[in-house]
Amino acid sequence: MTGTDKLQVKSMEKAYMEKSKSKTGQDRHRIITKSPVIHEILDIIDRAAKTDSSVLLLGESGAGKGLFAERVHVQSRRKDAPFITVNCAAIPDGLLESELFGHVKGAFTSAVSARQGRFEMADNGTIFFDEIGDLPLALQAKILRVIQEKKIEKVGSDVTVNVNVRIIAATNKDIEALVQKGLFREDLYYRLNVLPVYIPPLRERTEDIHELAYFFLENFMQKAKKHFEGFSRDALSAMLSYSWPGNVRELANVIERACIICRDKFIGYDDLFLNSVRFEKKEGADRNLKTAICIFKTGFIRQVLEENNWNQTEAAKALAIQRTYLSRLIKELKIEIP
Ligand SMILES: Nc1ncnc2c1ncn2[C@@H]1O[C@H](COP(=O)(O)OP(=O)(O)O)[C@@H](O)[C@H]1O
Ligand SMILES: [Mg+2]
Repeated sequence: MTGTDKLQVKSMEKAYMEKSKSKTGQDRHRIITKSPVIHEILDIIDRAAKTDSSVLLLGESGAGKGLFAERVHVQSRRKDAPFITVNCAAIPDGLLESELFGHVKGAFTSAVSARQGRFEMADNGTIFFDEIGDLPLALQAKILRVIQEKKIEKVGSDVTVNVNVRIIAATNKDIEALVQKGLFREDLYYRLNVLPVYIPPLRERTEDIHELAYFFLENFMQKAKKHFEGFSRDALSAMLSYSWPGNVRELANVIERACIICRDKFIGYDDLFLNSVRFEKKEGADRNLKTAICIFKTGFIRQVLEENNWNQTEAAKALAIQRTYLSRLIKELKIEIP
């Protein structure tokens, strides 16, 4: 990259940040990046945002698909209407239909009162189907109908309601392979895939690692009311060579944990616990067994949840524990579900 290119990227980056700040009045939609590839994606996304076309976000878990989906919304004409997320993997199959379309009182045994579905909630705004690859086939047909006819019917009702929503979908699965296996409807795939956007994993844009690490450090310092001068040299180089299987979400978790543990001025290599959990000698750090177990449990459960697309039933199976016990652990360990 030439000097001028660098300058250009820098000024683009500033413009993007200011734009998203002024739009939202806060940092929530701020996309931190120094990567030219991400800047190109942002450019495409901001242009697509002005239309009503569907956007399909692809990429590994934690790469930022959710953040980019919100970005499409806040840059669109629909920004003042709701942005409604449906995590297709996290909602049990039996509940999905009424979650999406709502139900009338008495539609089924537990329907003690009428309920608005997420399509209606998102009217005039955007509906974001996260983990769309996990959507059961029967519901895929129903969603296709909404896209085509812009109408819904509540479960238990034959009254048709018009809805005006923009659809964004995301998946970390190979959706074309799902289509080939007959697990994902081809017609729905083509409808969603108007603008496919692939968010590269963090290890393929190492220029973002330090940028994001300092950004999260700043955030967590404020949250924890602690102050650090920055990262040690070892910590910085370890972050660059680590493969970040959990991408930006993992980086944020690593920095948060380091902020809790570190008692020096600089966050050190040992505070990062990269490559699984390491408990090496660390002066002054909290080295009691209870803390260590807690840190391990949190990291491990989070990882298994991520591997199972945050589907708690599946994660509980993988962990060989009861689903209810997993829910309790998630609460106790304050694991944030995206
Ligand atoms: N470039 C970025 N700048 C700031 N925060 C980011 C960036 N990319 C991801 N994040 C944050 O990392 C976390 C994981 O991102 P998310 O959008 O949920 O990933 P995905 O949907 O691909 O699993 C979120 O808290 C998100 O806000
Ligand atoms: Mg996500």
